[in-house]
Amino acid sequence: MTSPDEAGRQERPEQPDVILCADGPMLVRGDHVVQDADGGLHRTTRPISAICRCGKSGVPPWCDATHKVIPRRSA
Ligand code: FES
Repeated sequence: MTSPDEAGRQERPEQPDVILCADGPMLVRGDHVVQDADGGLHRTTRPISAICRCGKSGVPPWCDATHKVIPRRSA
């Protein structure tokens, strides 16, 4: 028997589970528990969640788009 998650992957095999945005967040698909740098656990149940990679978010570990107003790291 195919699990709902496996069924979803078969329907969308071309869609990655994790997307790294240039100078922006890491997008993760599906339910996850994210551990922050202090060991705090944060559960997400959203279809897609944005995890901050710039370290400047006001709502860590989630991206709040602050990365858009800080200098770019990549050319
Ligand atoms: S990546 Fe968006 S606020 Fe850090």
